[in-house]
Amino acid sequence: MSTPDLPWLASIGRQTLAIEPTPLQKMERLSAEIGGPEIWIKRDDCTGLATGGNKTRKLEYLLADALTRGADTIITYGAVQSNHARQTAAACAQLGLNCHLLLSRRVNWPHPSYLNQGNVLLDRLFGAQLHVCDLDQVDGTRDALLEQLKQEGRSAYEIPAGGSNPIGALGYVRCMAELARQADALGVQLGQIVHASASAGTQSGLVFGANALGLETHIMGVNVFHPSPETLRNRVQHIIRGLCERHPQAGVNAEVPIDINHAYLGEAYGIPSAEGLAAIHLAARMEGILLDPVYSGKAFAALIDQVNLGNFNEHSAIVFIHTGGHASLGAYADAFADPEPA
Ligand SMILES: Cc1ncc(COP(=O)(O)O)c(C=O)c1O
Repeated sequence: MSTPDLPWLASIGRQTLAIEPTPLQKMERLSAEIGGPEIWIKRDDCTGLATGGNKTRKLEYLLADALTRGADTIITYGAVQSNHARQTAAACAQLGLNCHLLLSRRVNWPHPSYLNQGNVLLDRLFGAQLHVCDLDQVDGTRDALLEQLKQEGRSAYEIPAGGSNPIGALGYVRCMAELARQADALGVQLGQIVHASASAGTQSGLVFGANALGLETHIMGVNVFHPSPETLRNRVQHIIRGLCERHPQAGVNAEVPIDINHAYLGEAYGIPSAEGLAAIHLAARMEGILLDPVYSGKAFAALIDQVNLGNFNEHSAIVFIHTGGHASLGAYADAFADPEPA
């Protein structure tokens, strides 16, 4: 059966930033090794902007909105090793926009590389202005920055952390349609999707998109950020409601089920877990694919464990959405100091 398109989506302003479609590939060796359903990977680590990642698709809609409103300056938020901040900095460089990144020291990973390498190094290369502060200083730093930009006559546009609001989430509505077309063409059953979930834009876009397309796809968001899974569920729900309000023609029921898995967060956001590190080694050695210790490694560990537990046995294929993140690997070099367990 061929997948219908989303005509209402095509009429919404979008600034091209990503190279797409990103590939949908079978993880041949890993699937054989694990011996469960086939494992497929949607390569959103290959969106092409500044080493790729899931924020690029969101930024296509957010920056189109910013440009329509006449913005010349972008402000956004994240942890010091934010992948969203890095992709925003690169997109701003490409579009000739000023970029301010408010980066909070919220992760207790006490190694110097965390503050200097990986994403933060790239942010500087892209010419962004960095404001690194403690979590409780973000509001004050923001207020002072907004005042300064006003004095300078700048027109500022704020993007929330992770680019997650009903505008940014459209990037993953669009991704869902792209993935459905690819799965059709390759004969892959889209029964189960797994991905890392944090600021909720990816999951809400995928869930909304699947519903708008009439697909019976289960979408498991692996919580890698929130101490309570309910916070993430509420955020996904909130963005889906916002999408429903803005796009009633999509015909989506705002109360669609939301699947959050909370078993793979480990100690906390940004702290590598043993399972996540093992998943990184596995994907690297069996498929030549780079994951990261904060997002995609933990989500891939979830996928492997759920397959091993037999929880996905009803499906012939599982699709892992690789949301990127490997730009932070250098910042987490200390997590890889011990050799891989045999
Ligand atoms: C690499 C990576 N994967 C997954 C996510 C989670 O996506 P979202 O914030 O849309 O839930 C993020 C950002 O938070 C990310 O940087």
